[in-house]
Amino acid sequence: MTHRRPLVEALKNFQQQRPVSFHVPGHKHGELSGLPDEIRPALQYDQTELSGLDDLHYPDGPIRKAQELLSEAYGADQSFFLVNGSTSGNLAMIHAVCKEGDRVLVQRNSHKSIFHALELARVRPVYLAPGWGQASQSAEGISLETVKEALRQYPDAKALILTYPNYYGMARTETEDIISYCHQFNIPVLVDEAHGAHLLAGQPFPQSALSLGADVVVQSAHKTLPAMTMGSYLHIQGTRINAEKIRKYLRMFQSSSPSYLIMASLDDARAYIQTYSSPDMQYFEEKRRLFISSLQTIAGLAVFEADDPLKIMLRVEGHNGFKLQKKLEEMNVYVELADIRQVLMVLPLLKQGHIYPFAEIRSRIREAVQKLRKEQVDPKIMMAPQETTVISEPEISCEAIDLADKEWISYTKAMGRYSAAMVTPYPPGIPLAVPGEVWTHSKLERLLDHLAAGAMIQGEHNLAEKQLFVIQHGGVK
Ligand SMILES: Cc1ncc(COP(=O)(O)O)c(C=O)c1O
Repeated sequence: MTHRRPLVEALKNFQQQRPVSFHVPGHKHGELSGLPDEIRPALQYDQTELSGLDDLHYPDGPIRKAQELLSEAYGADQSFFLVNGSTSGNLAMIHAVCKEGDRVLVQRNSHKSIFHALELARVRPVYLAPGWGQASQSAEGISLETVKEALRQYPDAKALILTYPNYYGMARTETEDIISYCHQFNIPVLVDEAHGAHLLAGQPFPQSALSLGADVVVQSAHKTLPAMTMGSYLHIQGTRINAEKIRKYLRMFQSSSPSYLIMASLDDARAYIQTYSSPDMQYFEEKRRLFISSLQTIAGLAVFEADDPLKIMLRVEGHNGFKLQKKLEEMNVYVELADIRQVLMVLPLLKQGHIYPFAEIRSRIREAVQKLRKEQVDPKIMMAPQETTVISEPEISCEAIDLADKEWISYTKAMGRYSAAMVTPYPPGIPLAVPGEVWTHSKLERLLDHLAAGAMIQGEHNLAEKQLFVIQHGGVK
């Protein structure tokens, strides 16, 4: 356990020498920046690869030491700082492990960055549908049974890609068995643990994917640890992964001018979680418990506690999550996301002595809920059921889609047609349709439910005109 932060210290020492800049970045330690006075001082530390400050892509100084401390903390064989988010980690891990034409098993409720990586790597995905968590009202993990069946049908699969825990903090208990089952066939398991960098804190948090045996794990440190936005980690362990290939793709997918502010915050976030003590945990748990109990006394508000104690969901009977989110925002309370049923809150991973204004927040939430309950209730907030097909393959490859003739059609006519685009409610960023998948009745109904509830939908679509982008009949060449 260490409080040492080699990169933070190197940056501080460098700045104390009052260096003069004749190099990039052009803001010259912030002197030329027009940013407000509250922000500008941070630019003194927005450095570049100067003597003594190392190079992320070929580290042999403070960045290397900071990454070594990172792998020691997480118990990985090697760990890497990512400055372009888990997005870049997902791209790199998939490219490092899979080659063009490989068949790969993929949890269907993955983030769009996984689908982008699959497309770029030109692999052949087989989608494994997750179970629906009735209590969490979210798509959770895939079952061991599904993985066994998928490997029976596709014994040539070269990797399994999981998301653990899910966005809502649900951590499937079968994950360890799934990983060991794949390892029996020497199949590497790559885990998008974007929402789990803090699991290292231990009980009562769910076990981390590294401790469950995963081969590559990508974590958005910026989501749950005190790291800057885009700051993430990638860890590898075991003998199934070629570290040199991971390095190669990280160099390709990440900026050649990585932000020192982000990297320093990653060094700091590692020290934060590594020094998280049992008194810190006790303090966090007490504050959390009190906050949740206080919310439970608000009339009409239901609080759901996820497997991950950092996540809670709030629901108000008869009102969709988007309306609740809007009312909360009117009270300046901003949540992580809203969906048709609820809003998701990410709690702060407090340490002893940290103050968070929970009493004030509770009274604002109460006011928001009271206002919402005076509004007319929604006629329907049940969403169409999940697809029933558990294991599926897109019938058309991404290359064929690129070449195919496509057209815009009204979504009322899209049933049975192949999607030519990704259509993604955001957040959470899990595509409703991916290129090459058929628009089924269930998918279309869920799209309409999202639109009716006011969800934001990303992707190549023209939903303002009620149109979707599909492959023309006979359009595949
Ligand atoms: C499950 C999951 N994976 C990956 C990402 C991408 O992470 P980042 O924003 O760090 O690039 C997200 C972002 O929301 C996510 O929810």
